Amino acid sequence: MKLWGGRFTKATDHLMDDFHSSISFDQRLAEQDITGSIAHATMLGETGIIPKADADRIVEGLQGILADVQSGKIEWMVDAEDIHMNVETLLTQRIGEAGKRLHTGRSRNDQVALDVRMYAKLACRETETMLNELLTTLLDIAQDNLHTIMPGYPHMQKAQPITLAHHMMAYFQMFLRDRKRFRNAYDAADVMPLGSGALAGTTYPLNRERVAELLGFSAITENSLDGVSDRDFLLDFLSAASTCMMHLSRFCEELILWNTNEFRFVEMDDAYATGSSIMPQKKNPDVAELIRGKTGRVYGDLMALLTVMKGIPLAYNKDMQEDKEAFFDARDTLVKGLTIFTAMLKTCTFRKDVMEKGASGGFTNATDAADYMVKHGVAFRDAHAVVGRLVAHCLNENKALLDLTLDELKAFHPVFEQDVFEELSMLSCVEKRRIPGAPAPDMVQIAIDHGRQALSD
Ligand code: ARG
Repeated sequence: MKLWGGRFTKATDHLMDDFHSSISFDQRLAEQDITGSIAHATMLGETGIIPKADADRIVEGLQGILADVQSGKIEWMVDAEDIHMNVETLLTQRIGEAGKRLHTGRSRNDQVALDVRMYAKLACRETETMLNELLTTLLDIAQDNLHTIMPGYPHMQKAQPITLAHHMMAYFQMFLRDRKRFRNAYDAADVMPLGSGALAGTTYPLNRERVAELLGFSAITENSLDGVSDRDFLLDFLSAASTCMMHLSRFCEELILWNTNEFRFVEMDDAYATGSSIMPQKKNPDVAELIRGKTGRVYGDLMALLTVMKGIPLAYNKDMQEDKEAFFDARDTLVKGLTIFTAMLKTCTFRKDVMEKGASGGFTNATDAADYMVKHGVAFRDAHAVVGRLVAHCLNENKALLDLTLDELKAFHPVFEQDVFEELSMLSCVEKRRIPGAPAPDMVQIAIDHGRQALSD
């Protein structure tokens, strides 16, 4: 018989068992469910709500089940519907009568809220560890490439020279913000809902603070209806995961481009590429493409849960069982994506010579030519026009600015002198950009130092 079967005269249809049972996916919450129950039973015993001896037996029984879960010995029963009733059924099978007291003052509604919160906290911490690894990798690549000049590409057009270090540090900022978002998601999950009951609290004098303390929660939920109906903390996780995947996807898109025969800025390690079954020469950047593709799944998970939640009147409704697969899928996709991305990035070889060569084509020093004129007293708008005409001239002649002679330059404006050739070199263009946040190597060094500091906070 079902644990809730008392008022029923008929068994559920077998289609029903299959349709509403969640054990196939919520068995992932086994550890959280059992740990939560151990805390609940401990508190029930301490407060005298159930006899101390029964509480002890329950705790011992649950510890045995937990050990068996961890060693993979348990076969879950679809019949018992979900992880909560599976554990309770198993407990009573093992320890007898005392097991029937575990659910005193509790509902599956607050129980599932607790389990999911515990899992979400874990997922946030795991993600943070992985982000730290990625952030460290970015700092290391930046440190090694303070002077690796490359073109910057707004509109996918060569614009001004920057460095690979500066480019990596842009991603550093993005993933550092992601870490903050996961910390916020952790805080949102870090509130203990047991005691909310089914919806209206309970008549037993539960010590909610004690349960929170036993389970390492910072606070308890303040409203029983909200306690069982809230999944905002999962939406916070999914939203942080979506933004983080979006960042990974942008990075992947760049690596895919840089890995093309046209760019050749990067060589991906063989360990993270695949070949073609027909074209012998091919080496495809699959990891980057897959992460870019999987980003859509995570957005889908966020949309799915937002949509599930939008029509649910207070309090718990069974729709909310749909929270778990979306959350687990996003968590798995993110964790796998972050892990392999960092591994791949660590083994990428950046072709410094090709990058530097790429920086010098495409008039990336044109702004600096205008700035040179401004430094010698010409108004910026006039300088812009003169350099524009110079660029048009060079395009006609198929030359770069630095291919012109001083006389040719002077024909456009008398302000140019011999030092212009030095001033318009790629290195000088980068080194002159030395305000906070700009790509001059000493400025990027400061950004790296700040970054290392922020990372250890
Ligand atoms: N399996 C359910 C879920 O995941 C547990 C809560 C069920 N509560 C209930 N009143 N049917 O949401």
